[in-house]
Amino acid sequence: MSSETAERRYADFYRYQASSPTLRQIYVDVYGDDYPDELQPFGFVTRTDLSRIATLVGPLDGGLLVDVGCGRGGPGTSVALTCGARLLGLDVVPAAVEGAPALAASLGLPTAEFRTGSFTGTGVPSGAADAVMSIDALWMVWNKPAALTEIHRILRPGGRFVFTTWEPSYLDHARLLAKAGFEVSVREETPDWLDRQGAVYARVLAATETLERELGPGAEVIFAEARDTPAVLGGTPRLLIAAHKP
Ligand SMILES: C[S@@+](CC[C@H](N)C(=O)[O-])C[C@H]1O[C@@H](n2cnc3c(N)ncnc32)[C@H](O)[C@@H]1O
Repeated sequence: MSSETAERRYADFYRYQASSPTLRQIYVDVYGDDYPDELQPFGFVTRTDLSRIATLVGPLDGGLLVDVGCGRGGPGTSVALTCGARLLGLDVVPAAVEGAPALAASLGLPTAEFRTGSFTGTGVPSGAADAVMSIDALWMVWNKPAALTEIHRILRPGGRFVFTTWEPSYLDHARLLAKAGFEVSVREETPDWLDRQGAVYARVLAATETLERELGPGAEVIFAEARDTPAVLGGTPRLLIAAHKP
């Protein structure tokens, strides 16, 4: 799939996400109280993940936290509120960030900023970020060395990069991070990710007619993922990684 097609599919998803009570209910049923429904995530983030990310980012006392691949911005807003940070959310899909300021304001962070931007072109000045986070987005980036070089550039010395992603056997994020100049301090699997992700996909495939009706063209990105991913999921752990720029 070309990156243009991927972006169009994601744009369709973000346009229709709010009109699908069924998709939302699938996550609530599978994750229970651990699902941060009020943050309107697009992916598999949990309250447990967000709390762990906030702990690893640490207190920021008004410092700048950049969330790359922020989606609607809810998860980044939650971490920024916990860490006392200013938030800049970036996503390559304009439809993702359109409603993000209103969602952040409704969650208690009216100063949060959101822009279109990518892992390889953030538009953030060198050394301006006190921390960078990213949830379930880096796996989509083709040129990971370029992405990690960009994150390293925008961080101040001592600044942390904390993120979740999936790691296929041919990829070693710790090695790529080291090559980009980071020191890795944490690399762990997120709790119960495999059973939960598999359960979401099974329910998505069992509800295709309803989801198609509710999500229109936005359904395809979910169906493709639910169809294609289960076969490789067991060998592709969902990791939470923390690294810092020395
Ligand atoms: C699975 S969603 C996660 C969104 C959000 N972090 C969340 O947890 O709700 C992945 C996001 O990454 C974005 N994305 C994909 N490639 C990107 C890139 N190269 N730079 C920035 N964002 C990207 C997508 O548009 C999408 O919004």
